[in-house]
Amino acid sequence: MCGIIGITSTRPVAAKLAQGVRRLEYRGYDSVGVATLADNGIELRKGVGKVDQVDAELDFASAPGITGIAHCRWGTHGGITQANAHPHVAPGGRIAIVHNGIIENFLELKEQLLAEGAQFLSETDTEVVVHLIERALKVADSLEEAVHVATAQIVGSYALGVVCLDEPDKLIATRNESPLVVGFGEDEHLIASDVAALLEHTKTVVYLDNREVAVLTPGSCSIFDPHGEKIDKPRHEIDWDVEAAEKAGYEHYMLKEIFEQPAKITDTIRPRLRDHEVVFEPDTGITADILRGVDRVVFLACGTSWHAAMVGEFLFEELAKVPAEVEYASEFRYRNTPIPPGTLLVAISQSGETADTNAALEEAVRRGNRTLAICNVRGSSMTRIAAHTIHTHAGPEIGVASTKAFTTQLAALYLLTIGMAQAKGSLSQQQIDTMIMGLREIPQKMERVLDQAGEIQNIAKQMTSRSNAIYLGRGAHFPIALEGALKLKEISYIHAEGYPAAEMKHGPIALIDKQMPVIVIAPQDKLTYQKTLGNIEEVKAREGTVIAIATEGDEVIPRLADFTIFVPETLYSLGPLMSVLPLQLLSYHVAELRGCDVDKPRNLSKVVTVE
Ligand code: M6R
Repeated sequence: MCGIIGITSTRPVAAKLAQGVRRLEYRGYDSVGVATLADNGIELRKGVGKVDQVDAELDFASAPGITGIAHCRWGTHGGITQANAHPHVAPGGRIAIVHNGIIENFLELKEQLLAEGAQFLSETDTEVVVHLIERALKVADSLEEAVHVATAQIVGSYALGVVCLDEPDKLIATRNESPLVVGFGEDEHLIASDVAALLEHTKTVVYLDNREVAVLTPGSCSIFDPHGEKIDKPRHEIDWDVEAAEKAGYEHYMLKEIFEQPAKITDTIRPRLRDHEVVFEPDTGITADILRGVDRVVFLACGTSWHAAMVGEFLFEELAKVPAEVEYASEFRYRNTPIPPGTLLVAISQSGETADTNAALEEAVRRGNRTLAICNVRGSSMTRIAAHTIHTHAGPEIGVASTKAFTTQLAALYLLTIGMAQAKGSLSQQQIDTMIMGLREIPQKMERVLDQAGEIQNIAKQMTSRSNAIYLGRGAHFPIALEGALKLKEISYIHAEGYPAAEMKHGPIALIDKQMPVIVIAPQDKLTYQKTLGNIEEVKAREGTVIAIATEGDEVIPRLADFTIFVPETLYSLGPLMSVLPLQLLSYHVAELRGCDVDKPRNLSKVVTVE
């Protein structure tokens, strides 16, 4: 939710701020702004719309100054207006701030400030912070002291970048529950909501922890703990490169990310797969002893990551023979779910910054549970909360609709399942070898599905004018039906629902008529294939349009369905890694044909850092 970047440099910063905020745009894109410290005052340029639109009007890059901050907004408090866009400047005109998060006690603070005669220009919660800093600066010795005094009064989440004309080469950064990294450039220091915005300038970063304050000038970086004591923090080297965060000739990030999946699965499994076993890196701290001691797994996640968790539940129960359940992180946190000893809490997240998931994970840590994160972003808050982390190697995922992050999460779950089955002896060595072999073949089989993008685009034409869609799947493919429906909803705005195929006749079947496309995942497995054929017949009998995902070589389904997309045969448990690809491509093409902004769907943000 919202992206922030700030730079203090020996050179003009506005062009870099504009570029940085463009890279962060997937976090929020309803309005955008830049503020720099110029000789004659704060240069503030902000407006409503996406970065390119507002930049074309205001020419961010020409703003003078060697210190500045920028912001792209996903509004929480106050409408989408120029006044509510960040940065916000204090009434005296000397201080500017950008903020990501929610100030929970802002109404109370605002009332106090109003009683003291303060005037507000926006409806945002952020504006109280700029007032508090200005008020504190009247008696404080430095900008950092004023920020410290102001943030001590705040309840809620924040990542803040603050600049002031009185100290024109200084940039202050602080955070609580919202992410913020400090980057070390050449004769400059930077701050950003995530590393994607920094890659062009540096790969060396420090992750700020809650209520720490960074005081930056072009040549110095001092970090203070919440008590004001100066501290040394470890620097981290980012292993992503700039190209990884670019479109590489694809029309959209989402399409590029869909096509990257075979390589990203390889990156995720290769370091951990041996011929006859799975081995986790020593820094994960995951050992056979720990896995052997697990007798129940509870998954915590949101959105697409929650769908990955549902596949995880299937894998753990089916293969590792460990009971598992899946919780919406936002619900778990506010329920007193009894968690017996021996339970492993597994949080899954692309960003590692989803507020609901991290809050649930923190709750699990507080209760003394063993925790493990499956996460794509190194150094993210989640990886610092959980006792163990398995990193997925999806690289930066910029498209708001998650694709490669999902499949690499599935790959990590397969690895964990094999590791657990190995430790507990719940699968024979031969079964483990078969799974390892099956997993190794996945990237090349994925390529075969992606080769059908052209045909899938043709099928997508059938769906562009529909208002609804139903997705059906059974077993390990039920979560994929949910994921297919979510992908369609979020980027093409067509209403879609996923169901276990057998559930259709318990209600949703009433919706089926000529206007209803039904996407049926129908792999040729021994247990449910025939039943799923029955479900297809039921849809056809009511004149629905069936788009089937079938196993290569299946000759029955093409005779029943209106359209068939084939995926290569795999082990049943690995099937979700195949069946999700056509659904991602289908949603992508439907959205693109409907003229939707695929990478920046309305109302969404890539990283949901508010509860
Ligand atoms: O970063 P996370 O994986 O924790 O994010 C969770 C959800 O916000 C995310 O998966 C969301 O549902 C995506 N827009 C789905 O495409």
